[in-house]
Amino acid sequence: MGLADFVAAVEQLAADGVAAFAEAADATSVEQARVGFLGAKQGRLKQVQQLLGGLSATEKPAAGRALNEAKERLQAALEQALARTEQQASTSVARAAVDLTLPGISRALGHRHPITQTIQRLIEIMGRMGFEVAEGPEVEDEWHNFEALNIPADHPARDPLDNFYLANAGGILRLLRSQTSTVQVRVMEMHEPPIRIISLGRVYRPDEADATHFPMFHQIEGLLVARGVTMANLKTTLNDFAKSYLGSEVPIRFRPSFFPFTEPSVEVDLHWQDRWMEFGGAGMVDPAVLAAVGYDPEVFSGFAFGLGVERLCMRRHGITDIRDLYSGDVRFLRQF
Ligand code: PHE
Repeated sequence: MGLADFVAAVEQLAADGVAAFAEAADATSVEQARVGFLGAKQGRLKQVQQLLGGLSATEKPAAGRALNEAKERLQAALEQALARTEQQASTSVARAAVDLTLPGISRALGHRHPITQTIQRLIEIMGRMGFEVAEGPEVEDEWHNFEALNIPADHPARDPLDNFYLANAGGILRLLRSQTSTVQVRVMEMHEPPIRIISLGRVYRPDEADATHFPMFHQIEGLLVARGVTMANLKTTLNDFAKSYLGSEVPIRFRPSFFPFTEPSVEVDLHWQDRWMEFGGAGMVDPAVLAAVGYDPEVFSGFAFGLGVERLCMRRHGITDIRDLYSGDVRFLRQF
């Protein structure tokens, strides 16, 4: 082989190599081309290099230069190919994560549960009337759930079948509170009148779940104690409340009823979409309750009410089955 043939072979090799790197579409084919042309053992450059030995001493410098030139062209083509395929890889990863070119697809962030929304509304409305939020525990003792509310030991409301009593630890019988009226007692024990609070939270009763019952639901409790409070104040407060919550003048009706901790006691009905709906109970705080927390019933009087939060929420939104609220079905929840 003469110098001319050698140089021609080297140039052919370089041209093939540059073409192979240019065609390589991904990192794997770039690597294949690298091994094929620049590989230290079987690469075509290496094979041609071995032919150097067959050339004369005068031919070798020119042949060596041709080899070096070919090697540099191949190296440059390799680097270009690597840069190109790496860039492709990173843009395809970025595309997979967020495709900014897709129109109109968004992810819902989620929102508050309709009952939480209702509670926030109720707090806002009653807050405007000067009622502050008070908290109480969901696990209660019998004193706060019954005794102090004038519900003595033999009262049917304390029946184990109507309450969630908990295992008796440490000698104190506890239960999941059956009403938020417990918070009335807790607030009055801690504070002197005047008192103007609401309390919102979960209550528990072992009811079979159906369209209008659920073993856990929420109440909004209101309590106002001061000098000279009357039933008229109660009705005005509930009237204003109903109007704010339901959006228009809503007729309100009191029906005589009985609760051990209020005297007189009433059921509260709201006229809504052509019929009277019961929303809860209310009344004037029984003097025995005022006395149980150390207030003088001759000086102070007060009113209290307890309304069902689910009912308020369901009425407002036209929900017909309370179980939907607690199904966890996002198709239902997304509507609110
Ligand atoms: N706690 C009563 C109930 O759960 C409602 C109520 C509250 C009645 C306050 C009178 C006064 O049914």
